[in-house]
Amino acid sequence: MLINCKKTGGVYQRTTLSFPTEMSDHEKVKELVSKCMQARDMAYCPYSRFPVGAAILTVDGAIITGCNVENASFGLTVCAERTAIQRAVAKGHRKFIAIAVTCDIKDSFVGPCGACRQVLIEFGTDWVVYLTKPDGSYKETSLKELLPLAFSPAHLGN
Ligand code: THU
Repeated sequence: MLINCKKTGGVYQRTTLSFPTEMSDHEKVKELVSKCMQARDMAYCPYSRFPVGAAILTVDGAIITGCNVENASFGLTVCAERTAIQRAVAKGHRKFIAIAVTCDIKDSFVGPCGACRQVLIEFGTDWVVYLTKPDGSYKETSLKELLPLAFSPAHLGN
């Protein structure tokens, strides 16, 4: 199955809170992975020359992408994952199932930076994260695994 979700009428519904090990919606994951690679090709990274792409799958099956957008004032750079989240929220999406991220590193699976992990966890702890290499191969992990003992909206009573 695609994460811990069941697709009903085009909508992914959470069925359990446990992290699944098996995927049946392989095609959707492949699409997500392919979209994150396309997004990486849009990166604006003249300073680092380190393009990153991200693609978020929402509960209603939409895929929203982002790339890193750098700035001459380096600290204003926004990572691909945060660009994707901000685009998604601005389009009205707040429930997410998975994110695929990629960069140009060929020989290892690269995870989102700590700041992005914190921003992702704002929107739930049980996301699936696909760390994707440029050849399209990916490693499946979870936000819980990437950011254990996280500070989250629950700590503020939300
Ligand atoms: N970057 C991301 O887009 N996502 C991450 O999770 C890590 C880093 C970007 C920021 C910067 O444009 C470049 O990669 C080098 O740090």
